[in-house]
Amino acid sequence: MQTNRTFTMIKPDAVANGHIGAIIDQITKAGFKIVAMKYTSLSSEMAGQFYDIHRERPFFKDLVSFMSSGPIVAAILEKDNAIEDFRKLIGATDPQKAEVGTIRQKFAKSIDANAVHGSDSDENAQIEGNFFFSAFERA
Ligand code: CMP
Repeated sequence: MQTNRTFTMIKPDAVANGHIGAIIDQITKAGFKIVAMKYTSLSSEMAGQFYDIHRERPFFKDLVSFMSSGPIVAAILEKDNAIEDFRKLIGATDPQKAEVGTIRQKFAKSIDANAVHGSDSDENAQIEGNFFFSAFERA
């Protein structure tokens, strides 16, 4: 089912480096409507649960440790073709491979500290949005 929604996090590196405003500005200028947004932190248990699909990957421990290292901004975004358009806007997972002008190319330093998360499917966008926001907040 296509929902026209995606889920994003502004990760601890981008928050610590003062890029929240610039990243939200780029997201809204690209035509995404903010459905829900919160500034919060993840414990290592919560980060592990959020990234459960990567539990067997070699980078899982570092990912959990990084994602629980400082505050993040979580948001549900809405736009036609949201998943694909948002992944184009943020660029490749590895910022060294991200196209010029993309959020990761502009604000990220490494594959771990890659500034933002973007859901990879409608199904995961729904799971990830539900992880952070109540039904009332997502309405
Ligand atoms: P994200 O889109 O949040 O989803 C999983 C994260 O794991 C990814 O961004 C990266 O920050 C991190 N990661 C670290 N190493 C790798 C890797 N080799 N391949 C994919 N993701 C990685």
